[in-house]
Amino acid sequence: MEKALTRWGPYTDMRQLAQAGPTIITRGEGVYVYDDQGHEYLDGHGGLWLANVGYGRREIIDAIARQAETLAWFPSFGGFANEPSLALADRLVSLLRPDNMAHVMFSNDGSEAVETALKIARQYWKIKGRGTKYKFITRRHSYHGVTMGALSVQGVTANRTEFEPLLPGVVHVPAPYALHCSIHPDSHVCTLACARAVEEAILTQGADTVAAFIAEPVQAAGGVIFPPPDYLRQVREICRRYDVLFIADEVVTGFGRLGSWSGSRHYGIQPDIMTMAKGLTSGYLPLGATAVSDEVFETFLHRPALGPEFRHGNTYSGHPVAAAAGLANIALIERDGLVEHSRSMGLILRDALEGIQERHAEWVLDASAEGLLGRLELRDPSGRTAAGDIGTAMSKHMYDLGVIVRPLGDVVTFSPPLVITAEQILRMTAITEEALKLIKA
Ligand SMILES: Cc1ncc(COP(=O)(O)O)c(C=O)c1O
Repeated sequence: MEKALTRWGPYTDMRQLAQAGPTIITRGEGVYVYDDQGHEYLDGHGGLWLANVGYGRREIIDAIARQAETLAWFPSFGGFANEPSLALADRLVSLLRPDNMAHVMFSNDGSEAVETALKIARQYWKIKGRGTKYKFITRRHSYHGVTMGALSVQGVTANRTEFEPLLPGVVHVPAPYALHCSIHPDSHVCTLACARAVEEAILTQGADTVAAFIAEPVQAAGGVIFPPPDYLRQVREICRRYDVLFIADEVVTGFGRLGSWSGSRHYGIQPDIMTMAKGLTSGYLPLGATAVSDEVFETFLHRPALGPEFRHGNTYSGHPVAAAAGLANIALIERDGLVEHSRSMGLILRDALEGIQERHAEWVLDASAEGLLGRLELRDPSGRTAAGDIGTAMSKHMYDLGVIVRPLGDVVTFSPPLVITAEQILRMTAITEEALKLIKA
């Protein structure tokens, strides 16, 4: 297994990998991927929350090839641009107008999109002559990426602690996790104390020190935590009241995942800044984007003392081939009605998960889905499986039965390609129930 160790895998237990060896995925088609031994897996996790249009889509492959033949690369710094990235910016702005987004800067992935958002927020207040507003408020269990800034605003403690000290001025508030409310753990009634905690944090820090609040509309990697109704609207209002920018991290929730074009729209809010990646290309090539409102953009146009540019940009910002992939991906989502499909298939997914909860009430704490993002939170009343390990145990059984999902503690999470059919959803959830029965046996 020495061979496997030349590649240091991301978020990978390398000792375990050295023994078991990696599963080498060689091909994908629709909702299925295949390994080098010929095994077929239904990809219930959408290749890390993102294979929205499914695998093997000819339209995107051809668009990539055409663009690579015409112009594989030229930078966009200074006065240069390329046609696909201009067209993609136009396309995104027309899609995201209802979310108040009017201008887009490209990067390569979600972390860079978040990094860009944080830097925009800081400089925005400097330009306004309010440079004391530099802090960020974020939530426990949030995941925003791995670069030092994005990592600093992460709320997954285990991901952060080994790399401290991180960015100063990051304040964590409780997550809107009604099932495990950290503010009123014994109450069964949600009073949205977590929304008020954002206001409390702003007041405690001093509104004149806070630049922005950052939130995933649904906290995906934290365990698919759906916000209670009205939470996001209340927090949006609080941010407005205290002049705190609202950054919506839509890296997972964009492009139809929740049955809406964006999570912001799904929950009825308009952010000041929005980050995107993942479903922007459905993974055909890496691409990130940070969108801003007219107000934010125009603030940067009038920077008396600071000179004419936002001094930020990744070499590959607006990569022409990645942009061509993004355009072809969005065209497919629209042509095939995948946002609406995600909404209707989500009802089937939710029904099926709730059915598992009814039949295994003692073992299932929560079963829910919004569009094609779903969760099944488990516990072992027999005490044989340690708390925090059930998700992994489930995912191992499901893998053996031909379904890939992502376990997060005791939560099995679902985010299949949006092209999934009702029949495939029922197969995926039947295998989920079979795995649960194996654990119970
Ligand atoms: C909400 C959110 N933001 C940012 C990121 C970071 O994206 P990337 O891994 O592409 O850097 C992720 C990754 O899962 C994410 O879920």
